[in-house]
Amino acid sequence: MVGFGTWKMRHDVAHEAVLAALAAGYRHIDTATMYANEAEVGRAVQDSGLDRAEIFITTKIRPSDAGQAAAVLRQSLRALRTDYVDLWLVHWPPSRRGESRQLWNELLELQAEGHVTDVGVSNYSLPEIDDLTRSSGQAPAVNQIDWGPTRHDAPLLAGHAERGVAVEGYSSLKNTNLDDPVLAKIAAAHGVGPAQVVLRWQLQHNVTLIPKSAQPERIAANLDLFGFVLSAEEMASIDAMAGS
Ligand SMILES: NC(=O)c1ccc[n+]([C@@H]2O[C@H](COP(=O)([O-])OP(=O)(O)OC[C@H]3O[C@@H](n4cnc5c(N)ncnc54)[C@H](OP(=O)(O)O)[C@@H]3O)[C@@H](O)[C@H]2O)c1
Repeated sequence: MVGFGTWKMRHDVAHEAVLAALAAGYRHIDTATMYANEAEVGRAVQDSGLDRAEIFITTKIRPSDAGQAAAVLRQSLRALRTDYVDLWLVHWPPSRRGESRQLWNELLELQAEGHVTDVGVSNYSLPEIDDLTRSSGQAPAVNQIDWGPTRHDAPLLAGHAERGVAVEGYSSLKNTNLDDPVLAKIAAAHGVGPAQVVLRWQLQHNVTLIPKSAQPERIAANLDLFGFVLSAEEMASIDAMAGS
């Protein structure tokens, strides 16, 4: 449920941040072919000295790579220094529906070959998910979407739950005003920071977290979410930030 985001970090910054995240206790790392940092993630996993089996690695394939998924996966595995990924996502929907189904079928074939434990999507709508499920008989395990207090949408979360599709929420810190008085009041009541309040709220909505930070103290704080619980009233007041 608590992952580490790596978008916009490259080279040594990515390597050091992932190493710091693994040392702090994260065991789920989110990368993508598009981030051009799979090699640094792979190097950090190796340098951490942890067993590969202890770490959950997600990567993503660009929709423009439809038709060559096997080659793209081979490159991702080589860069990540592993022989499997835990979760492989279509990064965003291909613009043509036929291509979406084709790429999804490629992912399912490669999953069947054992190089990928689970397959899913990102930035898909519920109708787009339904189209894949109907055409292939297999629903995506995950939809990774832009989500946070200002994007909260209870029917959308319920729609994913009905379909058995886990939601991962990205950019929940970036797209939130962390100086918002609602967050400040709740943070003060629990003796934590506003970012921790947002992440704890996300966790209590059962939405997987993948916060990114390049700063070791923030990396640690973003994982320090298990010493407090938000009340139903506090949850509702953060829900009400949607659209603000
Ligand atoms: N599937 C997709 O299309 C998609 C799109 C976007 C993102 N993602 C994934 O989701 C991850 C997270 O999204 P994101 O990187 O866009 O945004 P985010 O994690 O919500 O926010 C990152 C920003 O927040 C700052 N930050 C982190 N912790 C903080 C704290 N405790 N207090 C104050 N500021 C803090 C970071 O700065 P510092 O680094 O300076 O701390 C950075 O500027 C990405 O890294 C990527 O893995 C996926």
